[in-house]
Amino acid sequence: MLISGTSSICAVILYALTLGYQAHAIELDINNEQSIKDAASTATYGMMVWYHGNETGQIPGAFPSKWWEGSALFYALLNYWHFTGDNTYNDELSVGLQWQSGTNGDYLPSNYSHFLGNDDQVFWGLAAMTAAELKFPDVSNGFSWLSLAQGVFNSQKGRWDTTMCGGGLTWQMFSYQGSGSTMKNAISNGGFFQLAARLARYTDNNEYATWASKVWDWSVNSPLVNNKTWIVQDSTEGTENCKNGANIPWTYNYGTYLMGAAYMYNYTGDSKWLDATNGLLNITLQTFFRQESGYVMEDITCEPREICNNNEVLFKGLLSTWLSYVALVVPKTYDLIMPKLQSSAVAAAKSCTGNNNYTCGVQWYKSQWDGWTGMEEQISVSQVFSANLLPFVGAKAVAPVTSNTGGNSTSDPNAGLQSTKDNTPKPVTTGDKAGAGILTVVLVGGWAALMAFAALGSGA
Ligand SMILES: *[C@@H]1O[C@H](CO)[C@@H](O)[C@H](O)[C@H]1NC(C)=O
Ligand SMILES: *[C@@H]1O[C@H](CO)[C@@H](O)[C@H](O)[C@H]1NC(C)=O
Ligand SMILES: *[C@@H]1O[C@H](CO)[C@@H](O)[C@H](O)[C@H]1NC(C)=O
Ligand SMILES: *[C@@H]1O[C@H](CO)[C@@H](O)[C@H](O)[C@H]1NC(C)=O
Ligand SMILES: *[C@@H]1O[C@H](CO)[C@@H](O)[C@H](O)[C@H]1NC(C)=O
Ligand SMILES: *[C@@H]1O[C@H](CO)[C@@H](O)[C@H](O)[C@H]1NC(C)=O
Ligand SMILES: *[C@@H]1O[C@H](CO)[C@@H](O)[C@H](O)[C@H]1NC(C)=O
Repeated sequence: MLISGTSSICAVILYALTLGYQAHAIELDINNEQSIKDAASTATYGMMVWYHGNETGQIPGAFPSKWWEGSALFYALLNYWHFTGDNTYNDELSVGLQWQSGTNGDYLPSNYSHFLGNDDQVFWGLAAMTAAELKFPDVSNGFSWLSLAQGVFNSQKGRWDTTMCGGGLTWQMFSYQGSGSTMKNAISNGGFFQLAARLARYTDNNEYATWASKVWDWSVNSPLVNNKTWIVQDSTEGTENCKNGANIPWTYNYGTYLMGAAYMYNYTGDSKWLDATNGLLNITLQTFFRQESGYVMEDITCEPREICNNNEVLFKGLLSTWLSYVALVVPKTYDLIMPKLQSSAVAAAKSCTGNNNYTCGVQWYKSQWDGWTGMEEQISVSQVFSANLLPFVGAKAVAPVTSNTGGNSTSDPNAGLQSTKDNTPKPVTTGDKAGAGILTVVLVGGWAALMAFAALGSGA
């Protein structure tokens, strides 16, 4: 049948538009293992196009303007390899995760160390800890993954600060880093708590558990963690004796304390830690998987207003992996966690229709691409896809190991202690302050503005 020229052109254009749209969504059948693996592969490939550390003239694992993000990328690669079995990126992973460890083996490489926060360092330590727990092979010439986690622990232990608020880690390490060096924040302390708890479980060495309890006790006695409501506040100010907290909810702050509590329960069997796990899990699911967003994970502080910065875009990836590990080490949480990871992954896949190349967005709950493009978006989606392979791979097979259950990464309890002594700040130039660190809370107007913002957020 002949149709008129104009309408056939229209038909062709319409057809092409429809096809173009449909052809570039990540297909995801949440009940099909291969489908999830394929989706994870696509998202992870989209993540790795941003990585240049394996190219000639480039430095492995280096992201000079956002150093900590390298750890988030390698963290995602570890899970990707572990849950899918695809080792395509293992060389880059091994080389980069090792390269950035610095000469002391504590993730304070001298190129960056003088303007880092405790949170920046601990994320690399947590990635190395994950490598040990997943039996990612140690390298022959370098630090073992376990010793790198121990190095970060020892280094942070040396910075435990009793001069303000009776303890706690400050956000930034050095006083020349301004207000961040007197602020005590949830991610630095919760990160250290989580690392200590995971080291305790892996090594069965009680020193780590003692420290985990110490960080926890200090946190629940500060405004950071409330052990009745389970609210986790972002930060509190040391110069004001940690009197007030900034109640700005972020997924990763809740997630890191939840993860630590779950590991402590697995390690000790003490019901105190089960209560903490249940309490923190409950509020985490309630706060960040809202009914009106289809129970899809959402960083509610920045997503609705589309003001998430690069750091914040990474938080959902961290919560995704942490929730999946909580389900592994405290199996009775599995049934609560898995449906929420599933609804999140289904929506996340629908966000990956950008740029005609499966670019994923930030606001997963929109179930369509929201116009955002970046490595951070890809990292978080890679993480939520990997986490959804849990039902298929079998909990026993994928559970994080310990030195008693097959983990053989070499232990060095004294790792990193050298750098604790060398921690005196070096002279800094303005250029040095370029900011490789996490700037979760941008203190544009200082503490007062932050508190005003917090009050606004809580409707006061
Ligand atoms: C997709 O397109 C964006 C925008 O051009 C680009 O930055 C990104 O690297 C592309 N990703 C892939 C996997 O090709
Ligand atoms: C770097 O790694 C990517 C995979 O992420 C690979 O496609 C590329 O060939 C590698 N480049 C070099 C120079 O090894
Ligand atoms: C530090 O910078 C030097 C000079 O650019 C480089 O050779 C080295 O690989 C860097 N180290 C790290 C850990 O990034
Ligand atoms: C909550 O924390 C306070 C302050 O450390 C402590 O006294 C109390 O025993 C804790 N409650 C529970 C149930 O752990
Ligand atoms: C979770 O919290 C809500 C309200 O805060 C409460 O009604 C519910 O019983 C809690 N669920 C569990 C499992 O603790
Ligand atoms: C601890 O974690 C393992 C998985 O590594 C799990 O099999 C075991 O049941 C957990 N123990 C407790 C007390 O939850
Ligand atoms: C550790 O175990 C892995 C297999 O999981 C093996 O390839 C490696 O050789 C072992 N390393 C040592 C030092 O025994």
